[in-house]
Amino acid sequence: GDVHFYDFVITEKNFTRLCMTKSMPVVNESFPGPVIRVHKGDTVFVNVYNEGDYGVTIHWHGVKQPRNPWSDGPEYITQCAIAPASNFSYEVIFSDEEGTLWWHAHSDWTRATVHGAIVVLPAIGSTYPFPEPDEEEIIVLAAWYIGDLKVLVDVALDTGGDLPHSEAYTINGETGDFSECSNGKTYRWMVDYGKKYLLRIVNAVMNAEMFFAVAGHNLTVVGMDGHYIKPIATDYIMISPGQTMDVLLTANQSLGQYYIAARQFSSENVAVTGFDHANVTAILEYRGNYSFPSPPSFPSTLPLYLDFSAAVNFTKHIRSLASQDYPVHVPLNISTRMFITVSMNSILCAGCSDGSDDGILSTSLNNISWFNPTTDVLFAYYRNISGVYTPDFPDFPPSFYNFTGDEFSENIILTVQATKVKILNYNETVEIVFQGTNVLEGSVNHPMHLHGHSFYVVGSGFGNFDNETDPQGFNLVDPPEVTTFGVPKKGWIAIRFVTKNPGVWFWHCHLDRHLSWGMNTVFIVKNGDTAETSIRPPPAYMPSCKVPLLKDWR
Ligand code: C2O
Ligand code: CU
Repeated sequence: GDVHFYDFVITEKNFTRLCMTKSMPVVNESFPGPVIRVHKGDTVFVNVYNEGDYGVTIHWHGVKQPRNPWSDGPEYITQCAIAPASNFSYEVIFSDEEGTLWWHAHSDWTRATVHGAIVVLPAIGSTYPFPEPDEEEIIVLAAWYIGDLKVLVDVALDTGGDLPHSEAYTINGETGDFSECSNGKTYRWMVDYGKKYLLRIVNAVMNAEMFFAVAGHNLTVVGMDGHYIKPIATDYIMISPGQTMDVLLTANQSLGQYYIAARQFSSENVAVTGFDHANVTAILEYRGNYSFPSPPSFPSTLPLYLDFSAAVNFTKHIRSLASQDYPVHVPLNISTRMFITVSMNSILCAGCSDGSDDGILSTSLNNISWFNPTTDVLFAYYRNISGVYTPDFPDFPPSFYNFTGDEFSENIILTVQATKVKILNYNETVEIVFQGTNVLEGSVNHPMHLHGHSFYVVGSGFGNFDNETDPQGFNLVDPPEVTTFGVPKKGWIAIRFVTKNPGVWFWHCHLDRHLSWGMNTVFIVKNGDTAETSIRPPPAYMPSCKVPLLKDWR
């Protein structure tokens, strides 16, 4: 593949939305940030200059980075922050991904404003597995917060209080016609009658799954998370934070203007007060000489805020393309099975065993609430430094409790804060069942994201996973191959993948509220037997961690 070079300069810049101006970190002065365009198999060097006020790291979401965890980005996992007034060069290695991906900051909540799309075109000389579109259009959905997020998040985490809720959503940086002070700034997508477009949609929203539709126009979803899927003809989509979708749209309606709209989907039972569930809009406008009727029509097919079945009805159609050119490699014999509970906890019993309630909100995987170390896990693993993490992420017996009943009590299981990782051998075939629990009696979907690998979603269901009967229904023929997938509210998903990528890989819920509260863990995939199956040597320079305990190095 080819090699490309990008410069990303992070600065604080003033932006005005909802009638209020605030300073926020952005890349190359733009929100959303610059687009990275490559062909499958290329390599990109991105030199990140941090001219902002805070440390930051960047993650290349959905890019597997074979043998190269050094450039994966999550803070405290594979690197420490790029300090203000310094720089770091990422080497982003593309392998089998093709379609739309994205990049985003991976420290604190900086990703709210530091993010952008990645376009991976088919390798030179090959084509899409669908008719060549005439043009393409990138749609980035994001959340807008009026306040300074750095301050809001630091205060919330220090005091154990609730994390901030956004005040609006944006499409390509703008809040749209239905929000205050947006006059004339709504994002406008100009189309030509008769042309076929490829929409590249990124959900960069911090904490909300989103419905999306275009008035008067049908959508055909053809790709997700950098892998092609069997085409889904639909009049709306549901996209979780972290997910990306490739969608075909033909401009075949009467000349005019049409609203493109997105709306939060909440898997909770009731509308949470303080939560924003306004619509964000952009405008699809046909080029030409005509007088448009006003106002533009709104997509009547956009599901409502609490429409759980609309979300399920879309998601259940996602299947791998599974063709001769795009085969499925789902492992059939499993060497490592894991059962991981996904919980929101009302209390955090920090390191104690007496169940005492210190009143801090937390989230957990197998009742471990991830605690960030001060030295990154990759450095500690590669250099054999002890005291940073422990390799004892617990196993949990499946179907031991009624996890999803309304009576499920937080007192059954105590959550502890810890830095526990799971260590896997190279070339293991892994099956994980993620079981959502109902600890708070208000459970929600959790879009779980794995770094360094894609995985096949072989099954999903509601209620408790049944070890005896549920595996019989697994789809081993054309399961979707993704990097982020929702564990349904009061339900489960089963996934499979092969550990083909040595390194240190973060696993977390892509709702940042849950990530911050600890719904995370780390998989360390050991080296294989050869140099070609081992972690590459580190780059000459990595940002240094503040390592206060030098004695731990020995
Ligand atoms: Cu989109 Cu851990 O990342
Ligand atoms: Cu979650």
